[in-house]
Amino acid sequence: MTDKKISISYIEYDCPEQMSGPDRKLAEAAVKAAGNAYTPYSHFNVGAAVRLSNGEIVTGANQENMAFPSGLCAERTAMFYAAAHYPDAAMEAIAIAAIQNGKLCPIPATPCGACRQVMAEYQSRSGRPMEIIMAGAEKIWKFSKVDDILPLIFDSLK
Ligand code: THU
Repeated sequence: MTDKKISISYIEYDCPEQMSGPDRKLAEAAVKAAGNAYTPYSHFNVGAAVRLSNGEIVTGANQENMAFPSGLCAERTAMFYAAAHYPDAAMEAIAIAAIQNGKLCPIPATPCGACRQVMAEYQSRSGRPMEIIMAGAEKIWKFSKVDDILPLIFDSLK
């Protein structure tokens, strides 16, 4: 028997100005996209922005539905849009931001497990790491690849 440990590293910024220009732009796009969320049930507005290898930025926002499972998270609306429109472009980075009661959440909103699995698949498809930026009003976290937020990614179906 062996005790094993998985550790991850990430960057924490205290304000957007500490980020690179492209990352700041992506985080701003995610905040803006949250304005298009349709959330009559949770009132939790999430925006996501994906930076593609072709230079495009595509955004998404969570869309809820009276039949709850029929809704979709912001991250997946953005990634599915990106894959549907630009299938050959790698998703280099995704930024996520959540707005509650009209304010950007102080601590970053973190993607749900299903969205992480979808990120993993597109990362694997492109063969290039997808960076993840989780933008909060007081802290911003940046992870350099999906593996860091989804250890032991399911990829056994080959
Ligand atoms: N939500 C997202 O859009 N992204 C996440 O990563 C977590 C949750 C949405 C789903 C639902 O519309 C609302 O937030 C509350 O769960």
